[in-house]
Amino acid sequence: MYRPHDETRRLLRQMNALHSKTVFITGATDGIGLAFARVIAWAGWNIVLCARSARKASRVISELQSINPDIKIHSVVCELSSLDSINKAIRSIRKIGLQLHLVFLNAGITSSREEKTDKGISSVFFVNHIAQQALLMGIQHQLADQSRIVIQSSVAHKFAREPRLYTEYMNIQEKVASSVYADSKCANICLAYTAGKYLTQKQGRQIMSYAVHPGYLVTNINRDMFMQPLYQSLLDSLCGRVTPLMLRLGYHLGVVQPSVEHAAHPAIVAALAENPSFFTGPSGYFELYGPPMPAKIYHDISTECAQILWEQTEQCIAELHGST
Ligand SMILES: NC(=O)c1ccc[n+]([C@@H]2O[C@H](COP(=O)([O-])OP(=O)(O)OC[C@H]3O[C@@H](n4cnc5c(N)ncnc54)[C@H](OP(=O)(O)O)[C@@H]3O)[C@@H](O)[C@H]2O)c1
Repeated sequence: MYRPHDETRRLLRQMNALHSKTVFITGATDGIGLAFARVIAWAGWNIVLCARSARKASRVISELQSINPDIKIHSVVCELSSLDSINKAIRSIRKIGLQLHLVFLNAGITSSREEKTDKGISSVFFVNHIAQQALLMGIQHQLADQSRIVIQSSVAHKFAREPRLYTEYMNIQEKVASSVYADSKCANICLAYTAGKYLTQKQGRQIMSYAVHPGYLVTNINRDMFMQPLYQSLLDSLCGRVTPLMLRLGYHLGVVQPSVEHAAHPAIVAALAENPSFFTGPSGYFELYGPPMPAKIYHDISTECAQILWEQTEQCIAELHGST
C-alpha cells in the first residue's frame, strides 16, 4: 500500500493540498514525474498523463488508480520529439475537455547531442524546450483561472550559454553545442518567466508559471553516464567532460537526493504552496539534495530575453508546422 514519505506528507499538510483538481503531467511514466504523480494521486487530484508509450502509461494508470481509486485518470500518447505526435496529443487533450489546474512540464532527456529529430533539430533541445512550449500553447484554452504551470529545469542551467544563442537550435545544425542540455534547462527557466504572463494576457485568466529543479539522483536520464567504467569517466574528465565523474563522486559522497519522491519536492512546493518562489530547488550542498527552498538562477535572465526566446520558439514551431 503506497503512502508518501513522512517529509512529503508534512509538506502536503503545510500546503493543505487535499483538493480535487486536475493536473496534466509530461514524463510521468518514470523517475521524478512518476513520483510526483503518485503523491498527487494520493492527495486526490485527477490526472492527465502525457506519455510516449501507451503500454507504460497503462501500467502507471493501474498503479495510480490503486493508490487512489476515487480519482479520474486519462492518458494521451505523445512522443515529444515529433511535432505530429504533439499535435495529435493536443487534439486528444482538447477532446478530453477537462479544465487543467496544474501543468507539470517535466519530461526531459540528456541523450547524445548528435541525436536529431526528423526535422534535423537537436533532440535534446527539441524535447526539453521546444516541445514543452508547443504543448503548452496547444492546451492553453484548457487552463483554468488561477492555474499553475511548473517547468522542470536543472541546476545544470548554470553551465548554459546566453539565451540569445539558442536560436541556433531552431535550425538544422551540423554540430550541436556541447552545452545543449544546460542550454535547454536554462530555456525552461525562460519559458517559466514568460508563459504565465503571456497566457494570462491571451486567455484573460490568471495563469502563473514557475520553474523548479530536483537536485540530483540517478534515474534513467543519467544512468548510462553514471554506470560507465571509472577509467572512462577519468579519461573523459581529462578531456573536459567532467559530468560522469561528478555524478559518481556526488553519489558516493551522498550529495544526492535520497529518493525520486524527495526529488519531486520542489515541484510539489511550486504546484501547491500558497506563494511559491519563482524558482524552487533543494537546499543542500550545491543544491543537489535536501528540503526545497528558493533556488538561485545563475543567469541574468531579463524579461526581454525570455520574451524573445518565447517568440523565436513560437516562430520555429510555426515554421515546422508549415513544413509538415
Ligand atoms: N535525475 C536528475 O538528477 C535530474 C537532475 C536535474 C534535472 N532533471 C530533470 O528532471 C526531469 C525528469 O527526469 P528524470 O530524472 O525523472 O528522468 P527519467 O526517469 O528518465 O524520466 C523522464 C521522463 O520523461 C519521459 N520522456 C523522455 N523522453 C520523452 C519523449 N521523447 N517523449 C515523451 N516523453 C519522454 C520518459 O518517458 P519513458 O518513461 O517512456 O522513458 C519519462 O517519463 C527531466 O526534465 C530532467 O532534465 C533530472
